[in-house]
Amino acid sequence: MNGPARAASPARSGEAILQTERLSAGYNEEPIVVDFSVSIPSGSITTIIGPNGAGKSTLLRAIYGLNKYFGGSIRYLGQPIERLAPRDRLKLGIGFVPQGRCNFPLMTVRENLELGAYTLPRGEAGGAAERVLAMFPMLSAKLGVLAGNLSGGEQQILETAMVLEAAPRLLLLDEPSLGLSPAMQDQVFETISDLRGRGLTVLVIEQNAHGALEISDYGIVMELGRLFMTGPAKEIIDDPRIRTAYLGAAPA
Ligand SMILES: Nc1ncnc2c1ncn2[C@@H]1O[C@H](COP(=O)(O)OP(=O)(O)OP(=O)(O)O)[C@@H](O)[C@H]1O
Ligand SMILES: [Mg+2]
Repeated sequence: MNGPARAASPARSGEAILQTERLSAGYNEEPIVVDFSVSIPSGSITTIIGPNGAGKSTLLRAIYGLNKYFGGSIRYLGQPIERLAPRDRLKLGIGFVPQGRCNFPLMTVRENLELGAYTLPRGEAGGAAERVLAMFPMLSAKLGVLAGNLSGGEQQILETAMVLEAAPRLLLLDEPSLGLSPAMQDQVFETISDLRGRGLTVLVIEQNAHGALEISDYGIVMELGRLFMTGPAKEIIDDPRIRTAYLGAAPA
């Protein structure tokens, strides 16, 4: 059964699923993310890039409700969500995979997936693990393995699978390819493309700016907590300032 907090209608492809308007958020006295306005089209992949400390993680955490809110609005499918708790945002269809490795290393893959389904309404839990296992056959082969013994990439997939058990429509990913081999990074990007193919909208922070922008529809460049540039991913890749600062090209 769907709870009352569930969104009424899905956004059609291309319509905004998420909009922030002059969003400010942070931790202590001063906001870190300042006056941030951006619109994320439904069914797209959008990559956030920017230097260390720019506020990328803070932005993603603020969209999920994990930070101190200073002002502005966040609309999900047109509904204001900036005052909702994270688990209510999850119920509406926003999933968040934080930076880092798996949370329960001493539990098996199966136990982790059971835990991921634990918060779901009764009746949805059983099917949820099966559904994500069908998406990630690699996990099926390792159900009895302790999560902490999985490789970094496998742990990242497990964490993502646990969030996907809640069947989010918007998935927020913080640096999913960090610390992975180039081959595993490619697999992460393939998985993200696959999720878009299944109708999800993905907003992802990536240090592998080029690899991520190549599979993305849109890009967001953050600097010092503010929006520096946004537009189609191809325009960002081709922008001379971005090429020099983030994509390893020599200055013109
Ligand atoms: N828990 C916290 N308490 C106080 N300040 C924090 C906290 N987490 C981050 N900050 C500060 O917020 C600013 C932005 O950090 P944030 O983690 O959002 O940047 P980022 O763009 O994700 O960087 P990176 O690429 O290194 O992950 C930094 O100056 C950081 O010191
Ligand atoms: Mg970060």
